[in-house]
This record gives sequence, C-alpha cells and structure tokens, in this order.
Amino acid sequence: MVQLSKRAQNLKTSPTLFLVAKAKELSAKGHDVISLTVGEPDWPTFEIPSMAGIEAIQKNITKYTPASGTVELRNAIAEKIKFEIGQSYTAKAVTVGSGAKFIIFAALQMICSPGDEVIIGTPYWVSYPTMVELADGVPHIIECGESEHFKITPEKLEKAINSKTRALLFCSPSNPTGLLYSASELKALAEVLRKHPQVTVISDDMYNRLVFDGTLVAPHILQVAPDLRDRTLVVNGGSKAYSMTGWRIGWAAGPENLITAMGDYQSQSTGSPSSISQHAALAALKNCEPDIASVVKKLIARKESGLSELSSIPQFKVASPEGAFYFWVDINACLGKTYQDRLIRTSKDFCDILLNHFYVATVPGSECGSEGFMRLSFAVSEETLKRATARMKEFISQLA
Ligand SMILES: Cc1ncc(COP(=O)(O)O)c(C=O)c1O
Repeated sequence: MVQLSKRAQNLKTSPTLFLVAKAKELSAKGHDVISLTVGEPDWPTFEIPSMAGIEAIQKNITKYTPASGTVELRNAIAEKIKFEIGQSYTAKAVTVGSGAKFIIFAALQMICSPGDEVIIGTPYWVSYPTMVELADGVPHIIECGESEHFKITPEKLEKAINSKTRALLFCSPSNPTGLLYSASELKALAEVLRKHPQVTVISDDMYNRLVFDGTLVAPHILQVAPDLRDRTLVVNGGSKAYSMTGWRIGWAAGPENLITAMGDYQSQSTGSPSSISQHAALAALKNCEPDIASVVKKLIARKESGLSELSSIPQFKVASPEGAFYFWVDINACLGKTYQDRLIRTSKDFCDILLNHFYVATVPGSECGSEGFMRLSFAVSEETLKRATARMKEFISQLA
C-alpha cells in the first residue's frame, strides 16, 4: 500500500460521478435504473462538429497543438464571446483546456496562495469547494436561501469580503438551481466588487446559452460592469450548449497575466487539449447557432412537462428554472418521515432510498451545500422523466 499525500487523504470523489457509478452498478445487477444525476445532454454531439472530428483524424490533425489551444480556435472563441457579451479579446487573452472543469481548476491554482479565500454561494456546483481546497485556498461559503432565490445578495457579498478574499466564483444560470442572475442583480454585485480591487471574478458561463426566456444569452456581469474586465475571467466550454461533454474542451478569456499563467500551468500538466476535439469545437463555434436554438426549444418543452409532472407531488416544491437543465426540488416536507422504519433525516437519506429501492438516481442538495433539496437533471426525455416521477410518487406514498 502506498502512503498517500495529505492532499489525497482529504480528497473527495466528485459526488455526482460517484452517484453515476452507483447507478451503473445497480444497472449491471439487472435493475432498471433511471439516472437524473449527471449534467449531460442526452442528445448527440451536433453533426457538424462530429464530422469535423472525423475529418481531423482523416487529415492527420492529430498532433500536439500549442498548450493553450490553436490560434484558430482561440480566435473563434473570442468571436463567440464578442457575439454573446460584447467584449473583445485577442487570441492571447484566451486559453483552451481539457474541459471547463480543468479551466476553473487551473484558474484557482493560479489565483490562490495558501489561506486565500474564494467566495462561493450555496447551492453551488459540487466541484467548486474541493477545487478551491486543492489550490490550498479556503472556500468562503455564503448561504443563499429560498427567499434570495439561491443567489448571492450584495449585502452578503459585502459582508463576506475580507483581506484574504481573492475571488468570487459563480455560475449563471446556476447548476444546480437553473436560476440566473438578472442584469440588475449583477449590477448590484458589481457595485460591491468595485470597492474591492483584490477580488477576481470567475464567471462560470457553462449554461449561458441554455436560457428559456427567448433571449440568446444569459445576462453577464461584463455587460453591466465592463470596468471589471481587467479582473474577470469568462469561462465556458463545448460540453453543454454543443453537447460535447466527452470531447473535453473548455476555455477562458480574461486578463492576459492570468491567461498566460493558466496556459503555462497547463503546459506543465495536461499539455495541449486534444487536437481532434479542438478541430471539432472550432466547427461547432462557427456553425451551430441553429442547433443551439433547437436544443433550447427542446429543453423548454421538457421543462414544462417536467414541471407539471413534479407539481403533481404535493410534498415537492419546485421553482421554474430559467436556464440550464436542472430542477431544484425542495423536499423538506419529506424529511423527518420514515420509509420501512428508516428515518429520513437528510436529503442524502432521501436520495439514497430513492436510488436503492426505486432505482432513480438524483443528487442530494447537501452535496451542493443546501440541505432539504434534491437536484434532478431534465436533460433526459419527457418519457424518462415521467417514469421517474411515477417512482418518486410511489416512494412518497410509502412514507410514514
Ligand atoms: C457549473 C459547471 N461548470 C463547469 C462544468 C464543467 O464542464 P466541462 O468540464 O465538461 O467542460 C460543469 C459540468 O458539469 C458545470 O455544471
């Protein structure tokens, strides 16, 4: 047995990936498991990037590229960011990595010194706090409740910032709530941030194109506060809007010193992202606006039908998501009940029974820092969500 580092001893497996593995294990035993855990579209990668990937292999575009990605792709990313939020970046101010997860990881590695704090609001994407800890930073968690629509308020932000604060990390539309920050909410946060120049803003825009109000893109902090540009990192990737989760392409644009440091870090760790995936991502960025529009339409239909299914369970409370593909379900009415003599104290207990007895995999809110909730992905067919809801109803009917 190897003696592991302190870092390894403190490391937690990504809870969503753990749940996916558990669901697969039950499937392998012959159970019909419905998985609503992972944040992954169930539709294929669009035709154009798929074909570009094949073309890359056929044309031998299969070698190392610059560590921060090809100039063509970085230019296309800059163009897309200009289209989406109106900010211009040069290729030097853009870096491409093996997924946005690694991009955020690398950014935190380059921003945090030991003990530095990164502000994160609850409920958060499961990986954020651990990523901060892996950078020797300290997650400074702000509790954001239902009355605040699970968003950081300017008052709470102001209170959380101190001399150790180095960054604010947030995602809009949010994984897990599907709610987004409005332009005026972002403006109010920017007013606080303006007073604290040592705070870098990491804007995780992974779901910015999957919005349901008929607009093209979610409101962005740099649209309402372009003066924060010199300390804002704009993060995005191919996984969600382009359904390219397995291609592992993410990117960031921002202050050149941070982007250069992230590129250097990457050059000494993962090396360049896949050349084949970069070729495919380039084609996606240039050609897939109509595909995104049709995916948004599909998600709106799924959201509507999912909401009407879930609202037939009186013990659940669900806010209508404004973007992304998650339902954030208030299950507090189920806590304190028993199932076959087992007391359900936490969201983890609830999700555990739902998986092991009714074969529906979901993410307990506690993994996102908020007890009393459950996250369901609706990047699955309407039929699948209907079947899952029927099983949840069955579970709840057996609560005492
Ligand atoms: C909020 C958020 N940020 C970033 C990512 C990272 O995506 P990827 O590493 O696939 O690019 C995800 C994926 O689930 C996410 O939900």
